[in-house]
Amino acid sequence: MVDTIVLGMQWGDEAKGKLVDILSEDHDVVVRFQGGGNAGHTVVIGDQKYALRLMPSGILRGKKCIIGNGVAVYPAGLIKEINELKNRGVEINPENFMISNLANLTASYHIALDAAMGKKIGTTGNGIGPTYADKRARTPGLLVNDLFDVNELERKVRNNTDFANWVLKFYDEGPLNSGDVLKDLLYARERLLPFVRKDTREIILANIGKLLFEGAQGTLLDCDLGTFPNVTSSNTTIGGAYIGSGVYLNFDEIIGVLKAYTTRVGGGPSPTEQKNEIGERLVERGHEFGTVTGRKRRCGWLDLNAARYAVEVNGIKEICLTKLDVLDEEDEIKVCTGYKINGQSVNYFPVIELEKCEPVYETLPGWKSDTTKIRRSLDLPKNARDYVKRIQDYLHVPITRVGVGNRRDQMISVR
Ligand code: GDP
Ligand code: IMO
Ligand code: MG
Repeated sequence: MVDTIVLGMQWGDEAKGKLVDILSEDHDVVVRFQGGGNAGHTVVIGDQKYALRLMPSGILRGKKCIIGNGVAVYPAGLIKEINELKNRGVEINPENFMISNLANLTASYHIALDAAMGKKIGTTGNGIGPTYADKRARTPGLLVNDLFDVNELERKVRNNTDFANWVLKFYDEGPLNSGDVLKDLLYARERLLPFVRKDTREIILANIGKLLFEGAQGTLLDCDLGTFPNVTSSNTTIGGAYIGSGVYLNFDEIIGVLKAYTTRVGGGPSPTEQKNEIGERLVERGHEFGTVTGRKRRCGWLDLNAARYAVEVNGIKEICLTKLDVLDEEDEIKVCTGYKINGQSVNYFPVIELEKCEPVYETLPGWKSDTTKIRRSLDLPKNARDYVKRIQDYLHVPITRVGVGNRRDQMISVR
């Protein structure tokens, strides 16, 4: 067995959930290390569709699932998710689900602050930015650990709600009642405390060789390395895995998930976005609507220049190329192989200047046939194989899996 990490190479929604579900069969422990309920990881099993938010996708196979210290936990959201999964027959108990006491706690004032402050970025509204901001500012931020001590929790909640109200006033919102904020957390406390552990780090260490780390969001949404300020507030790249679990791991498999085209939801530049009938076709064929917010995702051609950045930032060793089938009907397909700014090529990746970048495209022929029933790479149409090969040659990273549909069996292994 091996230790594996799965990371998004674009702006999220690359189909990480589906890959984690497939890989979790051969791993014992699945770890989330960053992000929170902003994630929406879709897993399709038979005729059942699950959209996981905070819960690691391995829960659907009954694997041990850990929420690491780097995650933002919104208790009301998590309880709802647990209840919904349990109602659908998924087993969740303190033996197979654990939350680090050091994880960040999102309170209702974080949600209110996000609603007031996150509009420009078009956040998912899960309180992610304000939760991480509180932690960094040490105002004091709330940790899951605060659920252990009701007096301490109450003190922090009163203090923090006062401060949040002051900020909300600036946005003509609020005020919130700290008693209501506390009531929500106390309700959650009873239900979540059985899952809270101080030894998640030790549990992870005890399972070396059987670990699967599940990234959320994608490389270009990383707070430090993404398209700032249109990013999320966690580190979505490989460094986030170490910080968000408290363990250094020499991963045997570092798998980047790359969608065969580009999508982005919320604000911020995407050089290859197609605001035309091509983009609309990709939305329709790829069902590109947000798992969390239902928003239409902005679609365009595959940006290989950005994908190379993701390879470099994360040390991606292999790639799972997803949603190839969405391109089945295209006459020709473009891939972006570089950018120009003011007509000049650039010798660095202009991550915070993408709105100035003009993509340089290469055009490849489409294959114009249905790939969704294909199960062996050799059976893919020649032009589809050439498309996969072009990506692999450009990135110098092997593509080991190709997705041709949302079901478990619609994943082709490439050798
Ligand atoms: P995640 O956030 O990275 O886990 O991705 P999402 O679940 O938000 O979005 C991926 C969507 O594509 C989901 O609806 C999946 O069911 C679907 N999907 C996954 N793989 C494929 C594929 O190879 N082809 C098609 N057509 N859909 C896929
Ligand atoms: P998964 O794990 C796609 C985007 C939001 C917004 C920005 C900041 O399903 O791939 P936030 O709520 O995090 O403060 O929003 O990041 N965003 C995502 N886009 N997939 C996601 O997660 C995302 N999580 C956040 O749309 O632009
Ligand atoms: Mg998603």
